[in-house]
Amino acid sequence: MAVPPRSADGAAETKRFAGLTFDRYRLLAGDSTLSPTEKIGCPDSFRIGFTGAILADVTAKLPALAGTGRAVLDIGIGCAELAHGLLDLCRDRGHHLTGVDSPEMLALLPDRPGFEKCPGRFPDVADDLARNVPGGFDAIIVYSVLQVVFVDQNPVHFVDRALALLAPGGRLLVGDVPNVSKLRRFLASAAGAAYHRDYMRTSEMPEVPAFAAPDARLDDGVLFGLMQRARNAGFEAYLVPQPDGLPLANRREDLLFQRP
Ligand SMILES: C[S@@+](CC[C@H](N)C(=O)[O-])C[C@H]1O[C@@H](n2cnc3c(N)ncnc32)[C@H](O)[C@@H]1O
Repeated sequence: MAVPPRSADGAAETKRFAGLTFDRYRLLAGDSTLSPTEKIGCPDSFRIGFTGAILADVTAKLPALAGTGRAVLDIGIGCAELAHGLLDLCRDRGHHLTGVDSPEMLALLPDRPGFEKCPGRFPDVADDLARNVPGGFDAIIVYSVLQVVFVDQNPVHFVDRALALLAPGGRLLVGDVPNVSKLRRFLASAAGAAYHRDYMRTSEMPEVPAFAAPDARLDDGVLFGLMQRARNAGFEAYLVPQPDGLPLANRREDLLFQRP
C-alpha cells in the first residue's frame, strides 16, 4: 500500500517542495533545520521505513546490483536513507559506485573506498564520467530526479547522455517518475478521489478536467517520447510499474532502459 494519505498534509507539502531545481536543492542541502529526507524534497513520512522496499525494487530492475564488482552510477544520489542504503549495498557486493550531485549534497555522504563522488550537474559532468569509466556502467540509477530536470533542463538530452554511459548489457533506471497523466487516471477513480480527500484534508472531490492544461509536470507524452527515442537509438525501453508497497506507487512509475 502506498504511503497513507493522512501521513502528510498534502496541500502544505506540495507547496513546500514545488518546482525544485538543482540550485534550490543546493540550498536545501545546506539548511540545517531540515532532515536528510526533507533535504531531498520529501516529507519524512514519504521515505522513512521504505528504503528496504525501494532498494529491493531497484535491484530487481537492475540485476547487476545483485552481482559483484560491477560499475554503478547514481545520478542525483541525494543524501537520504536511499543513498546510504545504496552505499551499503555497493560496499557489501564490491561494486564501484559513482555518485553525481551538487557538492553540497555530496558533502553529506561519507567518503568510503569504492565510492567516488562526482560533484556537478549532469550532463555537464558526463564527459568526466565517460573518461573515468571507459567501459561504461553496468547499472545507472536516476531515482526521483527526472521531474527536477524537466523544470529547467532538457530531459531528452539528459536521458541521451545517460544512455551513452551504459556498458553493453547495462541498464538505466529512471525511477520514481511522477507522471501527471497517471495521477489524473488515479484521481478520476473512486479510490483516487478518497485518497485525495484524505491527503489534501478536504471534503471536495478532485478536479480532473477532460484535457490537462500543459504545465511543468511530466506526462505520458514526455515519457512515451523518451522511450520511443531510446528505441530509435538502439536501446530497449520500457515503462514499468512500481510495486504497491512503494510510497508513491499510485502516481509514480519507472522508465527502464537497456543497451543490448
Ligand atoms: C528528489 S532528490 C532524489 C535523491 C535520491 N535520488 C533519492 O531518491 O533519495 C533529487 C536529487 O537530484 C539532484 N539533481 C537534480 N538535478 C540534477 C542534475 N541535473 N544532475 C545531478 N543531480 C541532480 C538534486 O540535487 C537532488 O539531490
